[in-house]
Amino acid sequence: MAATTARPSVVPKKDLESFQEHLNKSTRILALLGAGLSASSGLPTFRGAGGLWRTHDATSLATPEAFGRDPGLVWQFYSYRRHMALGVKPNPAHYALAELARKKNFLTLSQNVDGLSPRARHPADKLKLLHGSLFDVKCSDFFCDYLEKNNYTDPIVPTLAIPTDESDPTTNSALAARELDISDENVAIPELDYDHLPKCPKCKRGLLRPGVVWFNERLPSDVLEDVDTWMDEDDIDLIMVIGTSAKVYPAAGYVDIARRKGARVAVINMDKGDAPASGLYSRDWFFEGDAAQIVPELLKSVIGETNTEELSDAAQ
Ligand SMILES: *[C@@H]1O[C@H](CO)[C@@H](O)[C@H](O)[C@H]1NC(C)=O
Ligand SMILES: [Zn+2]
Repeated sequence: MAATTARPSVVPKKDLESFQEHLNKSTRILALLGAGLSASSGLPTFRGAGGLWRTHDATSLATPEAFGRDPGLVWQFYSYRRHMALGVKPNPAHYALAELARKKNFLTLSQNVDGLSPRARHPADKLKLLHGSLFDVKCSDFFCDYLEKNNYTDPIVPTLAIPTDESDPTTNSALAARELDISDENVAIPELDYDHLPKCPKCKRGLLRPGVVWFNERLPSDVLEDVDTWMDEDDIDLIMVIGTSAKVYPAAGYVDIARRKGARVAVINMDKGDAPASGLYSRDWFFEGDAAQIVPELLKSVIGETNTEELSDAAQ
């Protein structure tokens, strides 16, 4: 997986020192997390080239219209993504950020839906999931407000178990490899109707749906309000932009607002080309490499060593 096979990421000593000097005296800190942080845990993303699930373009399944048309198909896609996410672990950066949230006035905005920050026990009130979570389920009925957070049951209902090729007498590891092939066209997708899909325990009528923000949907207003309230409270000393290019709104906007409120920007990214839209200023930092290695190193002056062997995974 990416985190173990990547070459070691070396943080230049001078940059580390100037960052930590600033971090230590920072009182209000913001972080923006994106897919690159999940990639450090070995989780593939469904965006960009190869964003296929079997024969389907992943983006075409992530809409309320697709769910209305064929909820069985959409649920199988999300059940698969839940399964994939549960197959990887939070990495040292997730744990380090969770620890920083216990030590400082530190708010994290995440664009990731994979549940890895909640599983690293990031304090829930300091973690704002802009795009929701694969592990939140809510009622799809407009008039029902049922919402369950952090449901890690896999599969969520038995009918959503991932089909495997039973005619293939090979070992479990071969089956696992087969499941990992996101563009596999050879496994038939069963047709699942209302009776086979998870139903709302509150209204007993609506289908449950994944608690993620789909295309054509608004970001959750309560989350946005919490973020705005925190941003408005006072100046901001530092914003860390981790595993995201922050080129898309609202993420890009948060970098700009933080800057206007005095924040210095630290970007942690595999790709040197992935600076925020507004560019980098002379007092900013760019740390190139694997977030799972770099983030714990950067935060060490406040949180100490991150020993993930001793830390627990809320999904287990
Ligand atoms: C998760 O949701 C499913 C479907 O509603 C439910 O059957 C299951 O008990 C839930 N899991 C937990 C741990 O609450
Ligand atoms: Zn309901």
